[in-house]
Amino acid sequence: MTAPLRSDATVVDVALGERSYDIVIGRGQLATLGERIAKLRPGARVAIVSDENVARLHLEAAVAAVANLTNQVSTIVLPPGESTKSFGHLASLCDDLISHRIERNDLIIALGGGVIGDLAGFAAAIVRRGLDYVQVPTTLLSQVDSSVGGKTAIDSPQGKNLIGAFHQPVLVVADTALLDTLPEREFRAGYAEVAKYGLLGDAAFFAWLEANWRDVFAGGPAREHAIAVSCRAKAAIVARDERETGDRMLLNLGHTFGHALEAAAGFSERLLHGEAISIGMALAFEFSARRGLLPQAEAERAVRHLAAVGLPTHVSQVQGGAPDADRLMNLVAQDKMVTRGKLTFILARGIGAAFVERDVDGADVRNFLREKLSA
Ligand SMILES: NC(=O)c1ccc[n+]([C@@H]2O[C@H](COP(=O)([O-])OP(=O)(O)OC[C@H]3O[C@@H](n4cnc5c(N)ncnc54)[C@H](O)[C@@H]3O)[C@@H](O)[C@H]2O)c1
Ligand SMILES: [Zn+2]
Repeated sequence: MTAPLRSDATVVDVALGERSYDIVIGRGQLATLGERIAKLRPGARVAIVSDENVARLHLEAAVAAVANLTNQVSTIVLPPGESTKSFGHLASLCDDLISHRIERNDLIIALGGGVIGDLAGFAAAIVRRGLDYVQVPTTLLSQVDSSVGGKTAIDSPQGKNLIGAFHQPVLVVADTALLDTLPEREFRAGYAEVAKYGLLGDAAFFAWLEANWRDVFAGGPAREHAIAVSCRAKAAIVARDERETGDRMLLNLGHTFGHALEAAAGFSERLLHGEAISIGMALAFEFSARRGLLPQAEAERAVRHLAAVGLPTHVSQVQGGAPDADRLMNLVAQDKMVTRGKLTFILARGIGAAFVERDVDGADVRNFLREKLSA
């Protein structure tokens, strides 16, 4: 399929009262950033925050897109990678924003994947007690997940995302053409989060993905459709439960097992987040089947699709070897989904029918993991 140069925008509303905002999705939509910002915040200065990889490929286009503003545009480029979500980089980013005279009426633009979005969003939350920011996500993961919903954070040596704030952006512009330069492994990992929306609450979307995933990878209208459906699903959940006291937990499908695997792999290139979540979702469906919540064949269908796109679905596929069941269990128990010894898991009664189970016995999980690891 040949992808068009520019497509009409699909706009998804995140309905949060006075903090509502649009997610604009479409091929070539980066070019519209300037006019959108001019409408939203006439006269604002903007600071574009990016990482070296993204800056090399897309910063010039982003600067050109906002150059029609008569205002000052500054750029701040940080090193790529998870280690940038640190106090050190946060401090220098905050200093840079202040020295570029970004003030209360101005805008920060986060141009990058989830790392830049989380870091620039957190800086926006704290510099001058809160500045507005725009997300321009450049990875599939950030277009369907991290740029929407207002979670911002840096990492602590004790764990990921432990220091942060809820701070919603004022606009998200997801230009699907930016994903053309994304390494295929990163795209595939992000696809795990797309499949997640089908698996957790939308069986029809899951069936559509089974039939159309190749077109999503190829980059035509199917890609935009998949991103729009994903954003609509996330926006609806965030609108119902902004601070994750109930429904928003469903977005953690596959994440309790997944985070444990990521930790076991040292949050390294050995296992990308989406790859860990793919294995985690496979485990969540298999564990649900084992508890008699859904037929084994339904769990197998979920796993089959993840495997078909080339995602790992079994612990043995972790590069450099899988952790043993006890190590994995200790890591599961450290996840934030644990309250007073009882484990909270997102389980499923079928494809598209996930629910929050707050009363899972640790021993059941341990036995399940032992079996999986010996298989
Ligand atoms: N805030 C949330 O709700 C939320 C949700 C999920 C994940 N996250 C966070 O998101 C982060 C992961 O985000 P990610 O997967 O986007 O990783 P990332 O930001 O590290 O990007 C992955 C890699 O791709 C490169 N890249 C980005 N866009 C590119 C492009 N268009 N072309 C070529 N290369 C490109 C980056 O430089 C980087 O090397 C984690 O820190 C995670 O904690 C946050
Ligand atoms: Zn995730």
